[in-house]
Amino acid sequence: MFSDSKIFVAGHNGLLGSAICKKLIASGYTNIITRPHKELDLTNQASVDSFFSDQRPQYVFLCAGLTGGIMANNANPAAFLYVNTAIQNNVFNAVVESDVRHLIFYGSTCAYPKNCPQPMKEGYFLTGAIEATSEGYAAAKIAGIIACRSYNKQFKTNKFIAVIPNTMYGANDNFDIENSHVVSALIRKFHDAKTSGSKKVILWGSGQPKREFIYSEDVADISIYLMNNAESLENSHYNIGSGRDYSIKELASIISNIVGFNGEIEWDMSKPDGAMRKLLDSSKILKLINTPFTEIEHGLKMTYAWYLDNCIS
Ligand SMILES: NC(=O)c1ccc[n+]([C@@H]2O[C@H](COP(=O)([O-])OP(=O)(O)OC[C@H]3O[C@@H](n4cnc5c(N)ncnc54)[C@H](OP(=O)(O)O)[C@@H]3O)[C@@H](O)[C@H]2O)c1
Repeated sequence: MFSDSKIFVAGHNGLLGSAICKKLIASGYTNIITRPHKELDLTNQASVDSFFSDQRPQYVFLCAGLTGGIMANNANPAAFLYVNTAIQNNVFNAVVESDVRHLIFYGSTCAYPKNCPQPMKEGYFLTGAIEATSEGYAAAKIAGIIACRSYNKQFKTNKFIAVIPNTMYGANDNFDIENSHVVSALIRKFHDAKTSGSKKVILWGSGQPKREFIYSEDVADISIYLMNNAESLENSHYNIGSGRDYSIKELASIISNIVGFNGEIEWDMSKPDGAMRKLLDSSKILKLINTPFTEIEHGLKMTYAWYLDNCIS
C-alpha cells in the first residue's frame, strides 16, 4: 500500500476496524474510506455494488460482521449465519472484478473442530464436527475461508487473504452485557459490582475453559503487514494468536484486580462453557512477521481505561 492508496476499512467503528484505522493513520496512510452501517448496509448487494463502482477502493479490510458471545450465538444462529455470509458474499462478488488489489477476511477459531488437537494448526481446518453453540457463525466463517481460496483459484488471483485471529479485546469492544465477548463482559460486570458496592459477581460457565487473547492493535499491525506483503502469501488461511492461553478463572482474577473488585466470584454452571480450549498454532505467520505481542495485563489496563473514558458518563 502507498500512503495515498485508497483503503476501505469496513466495520471501522468496531473493535478491529477501529484499531486498523488507528494504526493506518499512525503509519501515514491518508486515503482511508469508511462508511457507518446505517449509511452502507453490506448485506445489500445493490448497495455494495454501487459503493465499489463509485469509490473504487484498492485495499479492503473486511472487519464488518455480526459478532457476539456464546449466549448471543446460541440464541440467534440464523442471524449470525445470514448476516455474515451475506456481507462476505456481497463484498467478495463486488471485489473480484474490481480495482481492489487485496482484501483481508477475518475468520474465527469456531471454524476449527470442537475437539481439535491443541494447538490448532491451519491444517486441522475441516477435520471434524464444529461446536454446536456457535454453529451459525462458524458455518459463515468456514464459508468465508473457503470463499477466499475458491475466488483466488477460479479467478487466478491472490486478492483474497483469509486469517483466523483468536479472541480479541481492546478499545471499541462491545460492553453490552448480553452480547459481549468474555473480556468486555468481565470488565463490565466487575466495574458494575465495584461501583454499586455489590459483594458478589456471578460469571457464566465453570471458569475452566481456556482462551487465547490478543490485543486488537496487535491484529491490526499484523493485518497491515499482510496487506503489504500479500504477494508472498500462500492461498490458504493464516492463524493469528499471541501464543499463550488463560483459563476464564485466571482472566477473571486479572481483570478483577485491574478493576479493583475484591468480592466473591460465583460460577453459574447452568450457562454453557463452549469449547474447552482454542489455542492457535501461529507458527506459520510468525515465520513471516516476528511481532511483539502486547502483554495481557497491559492490554487489559488500556482496555479498562478506554471503557472508563468512553462508556461511563
Ligand atoms: N472479536 C473477536 O474476538 C474476533 C475474533 C476472530 C474474528 N473476528 C472477526 O473479525 C471481524 C471484526 O470483529 P470485531 O470484533 O471488530 O466486530 P465488532 O466490534 O462487532 O464490529 C463489527 C462492525 O461491523 C459493522 N456491521 C455489522 N453489520 C453490518 C452491515 N450489515 N453492514 C455494514 N456494517 C456492519 C458493525 O456496525 P454496527 O455496530 O453499527 O452494526 C461494527 O462496526 C468480524 O468479522 C469478526 O467475526 C473477531
